[in-house]
Amino acid sequence: MKRLTVPAIQQRKSGRRTADPLVMLTAYTARQAQLLDPHCDMLLVGDSLGQVIYGLPSTLGVTLDMMIAHGAAVVRGSYHSLVIVDMPFGSYEASPAAAFASASRVLAETGAAAVKLEGGQAMAETIAFLSQRGIPVMAHVGLTPQAVNALGGYGARGRSDAEHAKILADAHAIAQAGAFAVVLEGVMEDLAVAVTDSIDIPVIGIGASAHCDGQVLVSEDMLGMFDRVPRFVKRYEAIADTIAGAAARYAADVRARAFPTEDQVYRPKK
Ligand code: KIV
Ligand code: NA
Repeated sequence: MKRLTVPAIQQRKSGRRTADPLVMLTAYTARQAQLLDPHCDMLLVGDSLGQVIYGLPSTLGVTLDMMIAHGAAVVRGSYHSLVIVDMPFGSYEASPAAAFASASRVLAETGAAAVKLEGGQAMAETIAFLSQRGIPVMAHVGLTPQAVNALGGYGARGRSDAEHAKILADAHAIAQAGAFAVVLEGVMEDLAVAVTDSIDIPVIGIGASAHCDGQVLVSEDMLGMFDRVPRFVKRYEAIADTIAGAAARYAADVRARAFPTEDQVYRPKK
C-alpha cells in the first residue's frame, strides 16, 4: 500500500460533505505509529505531545526540535497514512518567511508531507505563502490551544453570534488561502455544520460533532491513558489500568523473587 498523499486526502471531499469520513489520530512515537497506521488515513504529530509526553502545562513550551524528533519517528513507523506535523508556538506566527523557515525544516528533517498551524484570518497570508512554495498546510480553527492565554481557557467556541461569525470567517479565509484541510476543534454543532457545508476542503473535527468530513482524537485520550479527558473524548480502552496493573504484578514478582524464573535465565548450553 502506497502512502496517502495530500491531493488524495483533499479529493476525498467532493461536493458538500465527504461520503467516506477521514480517520486521523495523533502519534508521537515510531511504535505507536506502526500500530495506528493501518487504521488511519492521517497521523498527526500534534504539539499535544507537550502535555501527553513531556508533562508540560500547555502546548506553549513545545519546541521545533521536539516536533522534528517525534515527526521523524512517526514517519519511520508508518507507511500508509499521510503524516502531518504541528508547527509549535513561536515557530510560524511572526511572518510568512519565518513560517517557511520552520516548516521547510520540518518537511526536510522528518520526511512528513504537510504541516499544521493554528489560526484563521490572521494566518491566511502565511498559509498562502507556504502552500504556493510546496508546503501543504492543514489549518486549525475554533478552539486553538496555543491561544489559551488569549482565549482564557479551553472552553468550547462559537456560543455567541459574534464568535460563530468569526470562526466561520476564519474557515473561509484559510480555505481561500489554499489550506488542503482544516481541523475544527471544540465548537458548537451548528457551527460545525456551517463550516463543513461551506468550504470545499476536508474538515476534520475534534469536539465538533459528527457533521464533519472526518475526526481526530489524541490517541492517549482515546486509549484511556488519562483520568480526566474533555467531554468530546470517547475512551475505547483503559490503557492506564493495563499499564498500572502490569507494573504492580511485576513489582510483586520481583519482591517475591518470583521473577525471573527458569524461562528467563541464561544457562550454559548442554
Ligand atoms: O496537538 C494535537 O494533538 C492537535 C489535535 C488535537 C488536533 O492539534
Ligand atoms: Na496541536
